[in-house]
Amino acid sequence: MDSWTSPSTLSPPAVPMELHSENREKLFHSFGDHLSQLGRPRSGFVCLQGGEEQTRHCTDHIELFRQESYFAYLFGVVEPGFYGAIDMSSGESILFAPRLPADYAVWLGEIKPLSYFKDKYMVHFVYYTDEITKVLHEQYQGPGKPLLYLLHGLNSDSNNFSKPAHFEGIENFKTDLNNLHPILTECRVLKTQQEIALIQFANDISSEAHVEVMRKTNVGMKEYQLESLFLHHTYMYGGCRHCSYTCICATGDNSAVLHYGHAAAPNDRTLEDGDMALLDMGAEYHFYGSDITCSFPVNGKFTEDQSLVYDAVLRAHDAVISNMRPGVNWVDMHKLAERTILESLKNGNVLYGDIDAMNHERLGAIFMPHGLGHLLGIDTHDPGGYLKGAERPKEPGLKALRTSRELLEGMVITVEPGCYFINALLLPAMENPKTSKYFNQEKIIRFRDFGGVRIESDVYVTSDGCVNMTKVPREIQEIEAVMGGAPWPIRKTSLPSSNGKF
Ligand code: GLY
Repeated sequence: MDSWTSPSTLSPPAVPMELHSENREKLFHSFGDHLSQLGRPRSGFVCLQGGEEQTRHCTDHIELFRQESYFAYLFGVVEPGFYGAIDMSSGESILFAPRLPADYAVWLGEIKPLSYFKDKYMVHFVYYTDEITKVLHEQYQGPGKPLLYLLHGLNSDSNNFSKPAHFEGIENFKTDLNNLHPILTECRVLKTQQEIALIQFANDISSEAHVEVMRKTNVGMKEYQLESLFLHHTYMYGGCRHCSYTCICATGDNSAVLHYGHAAAPNDRTLEDGDMALLDMGAEYHFYGSDITCSFPVNGKFTEDQSLVYDAVLRAHDAVISNMRPGVNWVDMHKLAERTILESLKNGNVLYGDIDAMNHERLGAIFMPHGLGHLLGIDTHDPGGYLKGAERPKEPGLKALRTSRELLEGMVITVEPGCYFINALLLPAMENPKTSKYFNQEKIIRFRDFGGVRIESDVYVTSDGCVNMTKVPREIQEIEAVMGGAPWPIRKTSLPSSNGKF
């Protein structure tokens, strides 16, 4: 039989377990320094509980397991039911594996020996979960009960708390719930080169899939067919079994619904001539994700109105990226994006008046009610956007920001400006005496069913600037050329000449 040839230029990279050893090492040093600053000994154990498999409601249908993110960060373990510990006196790492019943071998496959997990996950020791109390007591050097540092802290996006490890016998330990979460979260905020390489792969395969979807999009298709093309490409050629989040495949006026694609809005509209598509889809590879949005006309040709809105968002996206470097405040970047969009809408005769006065009335939040972007990594909305005690901005638009931090070298953050015509926001603003004067009421009526445009790239902050990790057609000419059959990355000769021919 002929060997199989992939039409993709990419292949899934080897998964480096050294990445997780490096993450543990980073935590060991940061947390050790933190304990020293508190005047505490560098002893005790960091102890985390991995995720548990879940069934669908009361049935025996098992949902596909995805590891809890902090546990994934430190140990890289893909199986459910594990615990992990790091000895703060030595840096040694210990995994605790579930003791599986004999019939696991019949239904689910070979029961692996502990040595298998020790080699696979490059840890110092592996024991069974029912041995945690005994092992940690034996390993402990200090006086009194061993101290466990457990993970407990707020996720500022979900407002949920992480779940501290719990096991039979935990009452035989002293526990500390306050110190680990902020330090471990900050370790996750600043990516290592090994982490960047995985996020880059997730971006590369997802970028390629977005281009594939763009090329195959046609009037008459269903939104879910675009979703299906993306999922197929990233799984088939990238080995990505998980997505970073539920695909948003919004066309026509659905593209003004910011998180379209959920169970009650399941990407099931038929694409019509003249629609814009807003496709927000990103694959995950070995826990590390991507988050990419492309917007384009489903018939492959931008109208004048579509060009106006699209270019407004693209100019904002590009302005932000060209200003990003360590020390830059993210709230300022959000305001830069808003201002750029308002200026373009004013130049396009959709808005009238003074931009500063519009900003004073927070008009930007009518067109872009979400934040400019968020940290990205093992979670799509990676934690660490607000340091403990930091206050969220309160103004419209700004209050939706998932971070208000200054950029630091090593952060990966999405840049995702958007411009939407959301009747629930627009109509009250057009009637409000404070803001009605800014709208060209005759022109804006044309955009009532337009939906919206979002352009989203994943950007890595370097020592003196940033790198855009997302590689998709962005300029109008590029999108039209690629949808018309030109290769991507584009060659100069693939762009239309002055007579519009390739
Ligand atoms: N791109 C999906 C999200 O940020 O929620």
